[in-house]
Amino acid sequence: MPCLLHIDASARFAPSFSRRGSAAFADAWRAAYPSGEVITRDLAVTPVPFITEAWTEVDDFTVINGLSDLDEISNAVADPQQQASWAITRQLLQELYAADAIVIGTPMYNWSVPAPLKAWIDHITFPWVDLAGPPVFIFTARGGGYPADTPAGARDHQEPYLRYWFKTIGVTDITFVHSEYTLAGVMAPLDAYIAQRDEMHATALFRAAELANAQNVADACLSGATPG
Ligand SMILES: Cc1cc2nc3c(=O)[nH]c(=O)nc-3n(C[C@H](O)[C@H](O)[C@H](O)COP(=O)(O)O)c2cc1C
Repeated sequence: MPCLLHIDASARFAPSFSRRGSAAFADAWRAAYPSGEVITRDLAVTPVPFITEAWTEVDDFTVINGLSDLDEISNAVADPQQQASWAITRQLLQELYAADAIVIGTPMYNWSVPAPLKAWIDHITFPWVDLAGPPVFIFTARGGGYPADTPAGARDHQEPYLRYWFKTIGVTDITFVHSEYTLAGVMAPLDAYIAQRDEMHATALFRAAELANAQNVADACLSGATPG
């Protein structure tokens, strides 16, 4: 059965541009793979706690002992605080490893990712994690605009960061779809960008359906699936 991991990180719900993008992808994916399973991890509804010292101890322990098998780590971790920390990490890693494709909806907060998404990243980043490549689709929302090769674009610490982080865990097939100027209509200096905001978001929703039906998703998800 194919599996989509659907992650959201915006603090807001109905007005969220990034949530609308990731939801459009997930809806199209469900239609294409009706027998599939969608794991939903809403980091605003159920935030992942910040890592603690126990997490760092588990990290060191796995590296020193060459452990990467989740069951082996569960059996080897003895300290109760480490066990509690590892239980959270293990659940998140299982969701990640189960995924044939991943979609993330995330706002830009302070030129980067929201703290709940960073907390999720911290929990699952071990030197031995290797995802071996499910395609990843990231629907961002940004209040302003960050066109490439402009001074504003140089302040985008969201896409380059996420692209690099995913590469470190073995994912290179990664697609970004940006909804920008979302603060047009809210912040007066951006009022001139209302049409651009609407056009970018409409394009993002259209792309979501297109991407969910793309060949790289089919290649990753089709074995055992019943295409719609
Ligand atoms: C805490 C916070 C920080 C933000 N920082 C930025 C920023 O650095 N750059 C930017 O363009 N917009 C920034 N914004 C605006 C959001 O990116 C914008 O409202 C976006 O649409 C939020 O995503 P959502 O629509 O999915 O909720 C920030 C908003 C909040 C709440």
